[in-house]
Amino acid sequence: MDFFLMSESDRKINELRASLVAQIDVVSFLDVAGLSLADVEMRSREVSDLRVRLTGKRSELSDLKKSIGRVSPEERASFAQAVQAFERDVLSALDSAEAGLTARISELRTELERLDVTIPGRRPRTGHLHLITILRQKIEDIFVSMGYTIEDDREIETDYYNFDALNIPEGHPARESQDTFYTTKGFALRSQTSTVQIRAMERRGVPIRILAPGKVYRRDTPDMTHTPMFHQLEGLCVDKGITMAHLKGTVTEWLQRLFSEDTVTRFRPSYFPFTEPSAEFDFSCFKCGGTGKFEDERCRPCKGSGWIELGGSGMVHPHVLKACGVDPDVYSGFAFGFGLERMCSLMYSLDDIRLMFDNDVRFLEQFK
Ligand code: DAH
Repeated sequence: MDFFLMSESDRKINELRASLVAQIDVVSFLDVAGLSLADVEMRSREVSDLRVRLTGKRSELSDLKKSIGRVSPEERASFAQAVQAFERDVLSALDSAEAGLTARISELRTELERLDVTIPGRRPRTGHLHLITILRQKIEDIFVSMGYTIEDDREIETDYYNFDALNIPEGHPARESQDTFYTTKGFALRSQTSTVQIRAMERRGVPIRILAPGKVYRRDTPDMTHTPMFHQLEGLCVDKGITMAHLKGTVTEWLQRLFSEDTVTRFRPSYFPFTEPSAEFDFSCFKCGGTGKFEDERCRPCKGSGWIELGGSGMVHPHVLKACGVDPDVYSGFAFGFGLERMCSLMYSLDDIRLMFDNDVRFLEQFK
């Protein structure tokens, strides 16, 4: 038997104590005050690992305990006591490190999950409709009250609906690629809502009364009065016995309802491939009432003319009716179309129509 001397075992214990206590201190005395929950949790895992390393089956402490039997019988009792005392120290250091960390973990968790039910709620910011939408809906309401249906349709159209059915022959300038955004061959972004006239007559047949709002696209460089995308409203009424008088009456009626009863309209002869005869229509300025002067100054929206030019119109061309399977000897109709951006910018005195699409809330929230 290789009994080792008491002095040697003392030395061994003392050495070990010094090294273990130093290791535990590394963990237990670390200041956890400013640490995040994840960091403290990591520390706590480190202490568990340390416990295995210091007190587990393959630890030096375990070796020491096994060596008790090898100490000479006279010294065995006191050696065993010393080892036990040492083990208590190690365990209590580990326990207190662990307890401190566990307490801090629970504090941090509570803090994270804390909920003050007395804090006043945050009101969600409510938006509002875009000014183009507001104007569009106002006009839609007027037409719905006159028995019109709102008709929606596609923005990518075939050459047939964009041009042929609208009596725009091959070689017409409107078919030139500098005006139209062509997509795949034979398809283009519609450059006017007049395409919906065809689709609607095909779908619904006649008699028909529709108002078709929507986006249209033209290859224009953006400037103060142009954007490559803008909105149009298209009207179509086809029935037996419809005349130019109905067109004039309808256009005058909705403008009077939108602006004022005194509004008057004017139709100037014009040309559109899909109407015959065709006319552009103007209405008396909503600001100066048609006098051209506002507060002794030249009126701004109408530039002093008293008239605001709005859109195109006319009697639906027999070719267009025929293309939709409608007999032009039995039915006749009128159509009109105009842009919403121009109307909006005149109504709100905007200098630049691009403002409407810049999405600057400070600008947009002025028009509710
Ligand atoms: N589509 C024409 C344009 O974009 C406007 C227009 C003119 C529409 C005459 C019509 C119409 O329905 O009959 O300039």
